[in-house]
Amino acid sequence: MTHRHRYTTGATTMSAGDPGAESRVLRISDTMTTVDLGMPGLAAPGDPGPLGAPLPGDRPHAPGLIDRFGRTATDLRVSLTDRCNLRCTYCMPAEGLPTLPRDAVMTRAEIVRLVGIATRDLGVRQVRFTGGEPLLRGDLVEIVRDVAALENRPEISLTTNAVGLDHRARDLRAAGLDRVNISLDTLDPDTYARMARRPFLARTLAGIDAAAREFDVVKINAVLVRGLNLDHAADLLSWCLERGFELRFIEQMPLDADHAWDRSAMVTAAEVRAQLGERFDLAPDEEPRDGAPAERFTVSGHGGGPRLGRVGIIASVTEPFCADCRRTRLTAEGAVRACLFAHTESDLLGPLRAGANDATLADLWRTAMWGKWAGHDMAAAGFVQPSRTMSAIGG
Ligand code: 5AD
Ligand code: SF4
Repeated sequence: MTHRHRYTTGATTMSAGDPGAESRVLRISDTMTTVDLGMPGLAAPGDPGPLGAPLPGDRPHAPGLIDRFGRTATDLRVSLTDRCNLRCTYCMPAEGLPTLPRDAVMTRAEIVRLVGIATRDLGVRQVRFTGGEPLLRGDLVEIVRDVAALENRPEISLTTNAVGLDHRARDLRAAGLDRVNISLDTLDPDTYARMARRPFLARTLAGIDAAAREFDVVKINAVLVRGLNLDHAADLLSWCLERGFELRFIEQMPLDADHAWDRSAMVTAAEVRAQLGERFDLAPDEEPRDGAPAERFTVSGHGGGPRLGRVGIIASVTEPFCADCRRTRLTAEGAVRACLFAHTESDLLGPLRAGANDATLADLWRTAMWGKWAGHDMAAAGFVQPSRTMSAIGG
């Protein structure tokens, strides 16, 4: 079926069912239709979708994970477990969180089936495994191997705290893992123990050494907290530059279990730049960001010193990049989350276990993403922190 409804663009409203919408948004032209432009047609409310079931409201017929704001998700983050062996203050409470019962968490076969649907039918090209801590999955190497064997093999990466990675880096590489991002907030053992509430710095460093041996690209993620590691930022950068690791500082987001996040106490991207500027010169990178959340800088020594490498700063709070977001997420329980800060999820694991076929699951996923909001507004007084923490969503 071909739909020749007019398609509007360039603003936050695209709705076939709302007669006022066209006057509020820019029209492509009076004569051009979505079909002329090769864009998806808009299904009228109640139109049968590809499976004969009505599409919800205005969702167009399109294979990919598109939303109402012109974005297409091609980057999938899969949380493999909600458990973690650290208790980072900006994520977990000291006593930990109640963990999911084992049978509520996706099995290896279920993960591979959903990732296969995402890469074959939904246009996903990059898959990142996260947690909690993904190394706590005994079958992580097998999951990577299975995903690497998919017909449309995605790029596969891992976000980890690296505790125990020294024992598995080689197997993960052999299984097809392409890249690793490791969380490291400080090189000081006492500060590490205070921030992660576990004295595991040496184990993380051993994991990083192993990753450096096995992988061409190692990225380090750091969150700076005032009064804890803010003044360790330049040391951490020196250390990463010497080893050829790309360090990225991430503004702390309100995803902590204690709900203690306070915007005025948060270390901003501007402050990180100022802090690093005391020891280095930072020049904004020429390369286009191309949807990447980090603003990248070339680092050199003060006063025209040699180029030392790069650093990234992710200003998730002060300069949200929601308009360029390409992410879709699966929680460990197999639910789609369109956004880290979403208040709703769409269960896929329930239907999968009840016998749904791939086409139905793909369509549920598309519908979940079509409902994605424009973005969060952490600055707004009405901002409500999601009930899940980072450990339960996956970074
Ligand atoms: N804000 C920003 N980053 C966070 N992380 C965990 N919790 C938060 C938060 N509240 C980071 C971890 C890790 C990645 C998965 O997310 O440090 O690098
Ligand atoms: Fe674990 Fe990552 Fe949360 Fe730290 S931030 S407690 S390493 S899930």
